[in-house]
Amino acid sequence: MDQIRVRGGQALKGTIRISGAKNAALPLMTVGLLTDQPVVLRNVPALADIESMTNLLRQHGVRITAIEGEAGTWTLDGSDIVSTLAPYDLVRKMRASVLVLGPLLTRFGEATVSMPGGCAIGNRPVDLHLKGLEALGAQIEIESGYVHARAPKGGLTGGRVTFPMISVGATENLLTAAALASGETELVNAAREPEIVDLANLLISMGAEIEGAGSDTIRIQGKPTLGAADHRVLPDRIETGTYAMAVGAAGGEVLLEGAEAGLLDAAFDVLRRAGMTVTQEATGIRVSRPCDRLVGVDAMTEPYPGFPTDLQAQLMAMLTVADGASMITETIFENRFMHVPELARMGANITVHHSSALVRGVAGLTGAPVMATDLRASVSLVLAALAAKGETTVNRVYHLDRGYAGLVEKLTACGADIARLQGQRAAAEE
Ligand code: UD1
Repeated sequence: MDQIRVRGGQALKGTIRISGAKNAALPLMTVGLLTDQPVVLRNVPALADIESMTNLLRQHGVRITAIEGEAGTWTLDGSDIVSTLAPYDLVRKMRASVLVLGPLLTRFGEATVSMPGGCAIGNRPVDLHLKGLEALGAQIEIESGYVHARAPKGGLTGGRVTFPMISVGATENLLTAAALASGETELVNAAREPEIVDLANLLISMGAEIEGAGSDTIRIQGKPTLGAADHRVLPDRIETGTYAMAVGAAGGEVLLEGAEAGLLDAAFDVLRRAGMTVTQEATGIRVSRPCDRLVGVDAMTEPYPGFPTDLQAQLMAMLTVADGASMITETIFENRFMHVPELARMGANITVHHSSALVRGVAGLTGAPVMATDLRASVSLVLAALAAKGETTVNRVYHLDRGYAGLVEKLTACGADIARLQGQRAAAEE
């Protein structure tokens, strides 16, 4: 199993090109199931999660072909769907697989999708997805670990769905399902994430009528069919924030090329309060740490436009070496502090009490062997390693491959001493 080795202490200097957003690309790809016309997606990041979604869609019968000479451009052709079953073996690899449920059910009148199960960061049920689809007329049964969903004769019909809590995935499943349902659907207390807006924009370009994406109420007029489209995936705001926090942890100045500041105002606000400089330029966002040490700040994760839970671990890593204390509160997932014991092994001083972590800044971290537990936790260990004295090895780097395209290359280009060691067995797994 591969490891990542970091020798810390180098400030970052240079340019990092921001990839297309994983969390936008995954739901956008499921749109390949909604139409028999070709859907072209550009700026799709090269990630393990994208490969998982490609494998899942291919077994449904979607033909997915790369456009030669254009890295990250794929054509999806759903004119010959052969199966409406999403099997356990493929779904268990990635929770976002459940996003095929809405498209399959609305176009073919039935879908059988494995329940995604729990994951390291929490229980993560799909009840909101299922209740929403029931409000559009679906009949749902859960049997032997599978969701069996069936639409009435004539297909799903528009309805009013009021989400009791905000869910990105449930909003996406309902958006795609409503696009082919008859009549109007209203989604109340919908997620407002930029990835939802990206999905709505693709559906609109295929002929769907959608109003209000990006607000908490979305109205969709369903259409009998949807047409072809050519769509560019928006830049990854979580990757952007991660590298900005890497600069906060290690020091230096980096241009995040292709990044859009408007997509993560809340995170940049926290970084500025901690002492960083963030400026939008013509080609991207320039971030720098003008001081020797940042100062401690408080932050709380919230649904968009609040501070994203997917940047919580990285922020914590950055603040372990800030001057003073920081309080970080996680409100989205119940078990998202698994990076804390690993950061503590590097010398961080963090106390967790329920959903809050009190980080008392230390003068410096020291390198250590550490273990990645989930995607964002694992990158937070890389950030801490960049700031630490000495050598850190991060085990279980397959977590990083799920969400960070070219991480080692991007950081190396900015002067970091980081390498991927192929085929090393993680000590704790021997
Ligand atoms: C998406 C993102 C993930 C991010 C999360 C929150 C993708 C592929 N993944 O995940 O990176 O961390 O948003 O911003 O876009 N919940 C329920 N019942 C449901 C659905 C959700 O109780 O049916 C709960 C979850 O357990 C969680 C909260 O709602 O506590 C938010 O989850 P949700 O927004 O659905 O996250 P995902 O769409 O899975």
